[in-house]
Amino acid sequence: MAEKNWEYGIEKVLISEAQIKERIKALGEEITNFYKDKDEELIVVCLLKGSVIFFADLCREIKLPIKMDFMTVSSYGNQKETSRELKIVKDLEENIMGKNVLIVEDIIDSGLTLNKILEILKAREPKNLKLATFLNKPSRREVNVKIDYNGYDIPDEFVVGYGLDYAQNYRNLSYVGILKGE
Ligand code: IMP
Ligand code: MG
Repeated sequence: MAEKNWEYGIEKVLISEAQIKERIKALGEEITNFYKDKDEELIVVCLLKGSVIFFADLCREIKLPIKMDFMTVSSYGNQKETSRELKIVKDLEENIMGKNVLIVEDIIDSGLTLNKILEILKAREPKNLKLATFLNKPSRREVNVKIDYNGYDIPDEFVVGYGLDYAQNYRNLSYVGILKGE
C-alpha cells in the first residue's frame, strides 16, 4: 500500500507544536486570572470547525469550572462586501444572558465574520463578552474587532493546520504551516 503523505503541499512550518503549546499555556493563565473572581458562570464558545483544536487545548489550560458550547456560522455573498450575510447553521445550546462568555476563534482576517457574531451574541445580553483568537492577520482587517486574547499575529499568508483548513484538509496537523502557492 502506498504511504499517504498527509503533509503534502506544506511549504514550511510557521509555528511549531512546541511553540503553540507554550503560548496556549500562557493564554490559559491570563484567562484564568481574569475570570477567577467572577461569580457568573463562564461559557466558552467554540466557533466550528476551525477553532476545534485550539478550543480543546485552551479549555484545558483554563483552571476554572467552565461550560463548553459550539456554534457554526456560514457567510454568504461577496467576501469583499462588509454587508455580506451571516447565517447561523448551528446555534448555541446555552442561554448566555447574564453569563460570562468567551468566544474562541481560529483566525481573524477581515474581521467581518467575528464582527457579525459579536453583534448577534451581544444582543442576547451576556454579562461579559470576550474574544480569544489563535491567529490574527492585522494587515487584512476591514472592520475593527477588539481581541482580548491573541495567540499570534501572522503575516498575510495562507496557513493551515491546528484546526485551519484548505478545502477541509490539513486540520489535523499539530503545527501551523504555510501552504505552497499553485
Ligand atoms: P474573516 O475574518 O471574516 O475574513 O474570516 C475569517 C475566516 O476565514 C476564518 O475563520 C477562517 O475560516 C478563514 N481564513 C482566513 N484566513 C485563513 C487562512 O490563512 N487559512 C485558513 N483559513 C483562513
Ligand atoms: Mg473560521
